[in-house]
Amino acid sequence: MIAIGCDHGGINIKNAVIDYLKENGIEYNDFGCYTTDSVDYPEYAYKVAKCVADGNAELGIICCGTGIGVSMAANKVKGIRAAVCTDEFCAEMTRRHNNANIMCMGGRVIDEAKAVKLASIFLNTPFEGGRHDKRVNMITDIENGNFNI
Ligand code: RB5
Repeated sequence: MIAIGCDHGGINIKNAVIDYLKENGIEYNDFGCYTTDSVDYPEYAYKVAKCVADGNAELGIICCGTGIGVSMAANKVKGIRAAVCTDEFCAEMTRRHNNANIMCMGGRVIDEAKAVKLASIFLNTPFEGGRHDKRVNMITDIENGNFNI
């Protein structure tokens, strides 16, 4: 299950990604927003992040104007590793190396076709583990106040 959400600045690319999910029979939970009326992005970022952090979705996608605001908000939720992606390389590497569990994109930065491409890469790329495991665990240690250097 994929958790997905957006604000008014990201609704165009979110809808394109939802079409892709439907076409590919991928289950999703759309946390809104559902119109282009102006809304506050932290609300939607939080709903998606909470769903992923609680284990109710495997991965999440959140869209706003730049992808930045929703990533900042999502990363405040314990257990979330949200990455803003604007190109294919980053969408792949943030799964392979960072084990990102949420990808954030900007509807004022990339078009619908690019958003769908990045979503398909993000959702289909596994975490490599190995040496990256230790580094991702260090991020968790920082989050838990257990990082000792
Ligand atoms: C909304 O105008 C805009 O600020 C928002 O979509 C996002 O880009 C924030 O980071």
